[in-house]
Amino acid sequence: MIKTIEWTGEGVVMIDQRLLPGEEVYPIFRTCEEVAQAIEQMVIRGAPAIGVAAAMGLALGLKQSKAAGDAEVEKEFDQMCRRMARTRPTAVNLFWAIERMRWRFNRSRKDGGSLDQIRSALIQEASLIYEEDIDSNRKMGAFGAELIPEGATVLTHCNAGALATAGFGTALGVIRAAVESGKHINVFADETRPFLQGARLTAWELAKDDIPVTLITDGMSGHFMQRGRINCVIVGADRIAANGDVANKIGTYMVAVAAHENNIPFYVAAPLTTIDLTLNSGEEIPIEERSESEVTHVRGERMAPPGIAVANPAFDVTPHRYISAIITDNGVAREPYDLSLKSLFAELETGSRKID
Ligand code: MRU
Repeated sequence: MIKTIEWTGEGVVMIDQRLLPGEEVYPIFRTCEEVAQAIEQMVIRGAPAIGVAAAMGLALGLKQSKAAGDAEVEKEFDQMCRRMARTRPTAVNLFWAIERMRWRFNRSRKDGGSLDQIRSALIQEASLIYEEDIDSNRKMGAFGAELIPEGATVLTHCNAGALATAGFGTALGVIRAAVESGKHINVFADETRPFLQGARLTAWELAKDDIPVTLITDGMSGHFMQRGRINCVIVGADRIAANGDVANKIGTYMVAVAAHENNIPFYVAAPLTTIDLTLNSGEEIPIEERSESEVTHVRGERMAPPGIAVANPAFDVTPHRYISAIITDNGVAREPYDLSLKSLFAELETGSRKID
């Protein structure tokens, strides 16, 4: 399996996703600030992977802290958490992971831990977040695989694969699990302008796993749906509001509308850590605006006239009415999402179940 991110004694190693598929390079990030910059600059991307990177970055920061005394350590850790939280605004997994590291820090301090003990606790917590993410993806895969018919052609947008998580993937995890269960699945991958996560990452990942994949440009998916070539759509998510509205990579909304128009099931696969019950609807989800150069340039070469006005929102919101089901690591939720999503959290105490 592809190693997206790894904790080592010297720092955090990540595959540099900006260089794929041309070069497979694994640089090491040696400070909390270097990890924060790696998230900002898209060395690592994808909601769950960003959360794991942030957790490892904070563990690394505290490991290297030279702070003297409790108050200084606390102040320094708080600054590192705030820095990490400024990296990218949309994927809620980032904030979830930071809060979980804060919780572990505070618990360790309350237990009277020495600085060394707090450091070890944070390293342990970051590894737990990493391992739990792979486990979540496997669970989502098992729930979701049942929804994919034998012989299906599945359309996906962006990259919600091993590269976007600690491993296995969310949307691609469901596809992988369906293939592992013996189903013959074909994938259509949208190229996903402007960062080309579909062309560069999804196509690379699936081809590596020998899962048949056809690459199309973003404007083509409606055509293939209309011609009966797509049996279902499955995408990941960056943040899901309490009513089931889903923020995901820009272009997802148009895919969902076209799927609805053509009576094609549209599934979202995401762990509970992507669900933000504090937001009532997708309108409240902050949408990241990225650099104009991602739109005007391709691999350093300008494609648009100089001085042209450019907009580059990195995500959009798909209203819950277009979503056939949300596949989580604790079961499959359907309309009404305001009830089914809440109940998946409540079920955490008593074990997994399916909501139909
Ligand atoms: O800008 P990115 O590449 O971080 O956006 C990623 C996506 O939109 C993914 O679909 C989402 O994070 C789900 S990844 C399991």
